[in-house]
Amino acid sequence: MKKTVAGFLKMKARGEKISMLTCYDYSTAVLIEEAGTDMILVGDSLGNTMLGYEDTLAVTMENMIHHGAAVCRGTSDVFVVVDMPFMSYQTSVYDALVNAGRLVKETGCNAVKLEGGAAVCDRIEAITEAGIPVVAHIGMTPQSINAFGGFKVQGKNEEKARKILDDAYKVQEAGAFAVVLECVPSPLAQLISEKLTIPTIGIGAGAGCDGQVLVWQDMTGVFRGFAPKFVRRYADLGETMVEAFRSYDRDVKSGAFPEDKHGFSMDEEVIEKVREYDNSREG
Ligand code: KIV
Repeated sequence: MKKTVAGFLKMKARGEKISMLTCYDYSTAVLIEEAGTDMILVGDSLGNTMLGYEDTLAVTMENMIHHGAAVCRGTSDVFVVVDMPFMSYQTSVYDALVNAGRLVKETGCNAVKLEGGAAVCDRIEAITEAGIPVVAHIGMTPQSINAFGGFKVQGKNEEKARKILDDAYKVQEAGAFAVVLECVPSPLAQLISEKLTIPTIGIGAGAGCDGQVLVWQDMTGVFRGFAPKFVRRYADLGETMVEAFRSYDRDVKSGAFPEDKHGFSMDEEVIEKVREYDNSREG
């Protein structure tokens, strides 16, 4: 059954946890759907995991549409959220609306996500009024990396914690149907989760959130770069893949691959005629 906004609000009300994973391509989307995950986030973290950038700032609308559409082609029931990239909504409410519309029309996604609290509430209102569900994202917002001076936990002192709490109320009031809390101290995330009526989805925000999101390459060990402290490694697919690539390299070089069964046969008569044809060229 297709997951819906109303379903997620019911899950929150019933105290059922929501699972979300990032995903950026068709094949992985098929596997994530098969696993029964509730939501997929086509995150702008694809800038790091798929495109090799240091941060998410260079990611474009075209990148998000390219990957978002591939993920949507691989899913039917899972709810797909696509990130609005840096500068696709910061510039104006109009740009935010046009770009949210493009993401829905050109990928087939179910919702968009954008970063920020009070400062983006007019964007959230305009997008939700257009009938596009919005996931907000507060706390450590990677598109503001240069303002934060690095990937740092947010909301440890009273002033910053109050600001994050205020932002959470404001994005809910503006119409967001869920909010990602990234790198927020667990007690603060728990308080926000208790107070809001919309689900909180945590990443580095503790067990008190209504759901959790992780980057799939981090939790499977496929991403070889830095792994944040909040990640649990569920598998070491990175090592499994390297081993497979190594075996392939060895087999190609030794001639152990391919075997007869990997090839296609043809009539002996036909190849004989082709040989004669070739010989006649030399004559
Ligand atoms: O882009 C992303 O993957 C995200 C998650 C870290 C929440 O925004």
